[in-house]
Amino acid sequence: MKNWIVIGATSAIAESVCRLWAVRGYNLFLVGRSQDKLDMVAKDYQVRGAAGVHTQTLDVKDHGQHQSCWDAAMKAMGTVDGILIAHGTLPDQKQCEASYDSAFDEINVNALSVISLCTLAANEFEKQNSGHIAVISSVAGDRGRQSNYVYGAAKGMVSIFLQGLRNRLFKSGVYVTTIKPGFVDTPMTAEFDKSGPLWASPDQVAAGIIRAIDKKRSVVYLPWFWLGVMLIIRSIPEIVFKRLSL
Ligand SMILES: NC(=O)c1ccc[n+]([C@@H]2O[C@H](COP(=O)([O-])OP(=O)(O)OC[C@H]3O[C@@H](n4cnc5c(N)ncnc54)[C@H](OP(=O)(O)O)[C@@H]3O)[C@@H](O)[C@H]2O)c1
Repeated sequence: MKNWIVIGATSAIAESVCRLWAVRGYNLFLVGRSQDKLDMVAKDYQVRGAAGVHTQTLDVKDHGQHQSCWDAAMKAMGTVDGILIAHGTLPDQKQCEASYDSAFDEINVNALSVISLCTLAANEFEKQNSGHIAVISSVAGDRGRQSNYVYGAAKGMVSIFLQGLRNRLFKSGVYVTTIKPGFVDTPMTAEFDKSGPLWASPDQVAAGIIRAIDKKRSVVYLPWFWLGVMLIIRSIPEIVFKRLSL
């Protein structure tokens, strides 16, 4: 049995992961903003075979509540084997360009809250010489683009932070997995045109996340072909890139 905390547990991708973990009999501590949504998914995981399902409401912007959320998970499960951080928002880029407050808010949700939660988890796991931190970042963090550079900057910050954290925690036997999905058909991308071969379902991405965690991978692009796509995008010289409408 494994005890996992899932932050942003009502995200479509996290729900797909939890369904699979429930079938494996994991013990889950689900954290999200809405108790009603948490109750709904918790029932589903119990039916699927989860060893235990606990819920906790948290607005991740409230950093002051992060420690008590961790403490509640410890109280409920006894020990914590891993934390999956899956919350996020897709900013209105134009709104962020017009208002620093909006940009700050988005960077807070997508990066600073993640860094706060990872700091807590890292220190606890380091003490116990075991644990796994898995975070959903994004391919958007690999290169800034005019169409979504506030989101990209936040995800890029998370990816670099996790690189350093992985380096620090390696000798303590603590694993850090950075998950970089491409386009996924979830409520976050409800407004997007989903035609084209680059789109994946939450279930496809969840299967990749579970595989990456099982294999203790450091970084994973999901689906796999995004590794190639981003290699190409990163290799375009800036003198060309700045002229593109990406
Ligand atoms: N969809 C994509 O194409 C894509 C691509 C790359 C990376 N990602 C990343 O994948 C992760 C999961 O996203 P998704 O696609 O599954 O989207 P989603 O279904 O819209 O889930 C987003 C989740 O974040 C939660 N959330 C947002 N703000 C929060 C806050 N202040 N406090 C607590 N929870 C908050 C939402 O809670 P509520 O349910 O209460 O709204 C929701 O559960 C995110 O980190 C996202 O950036 C997504």
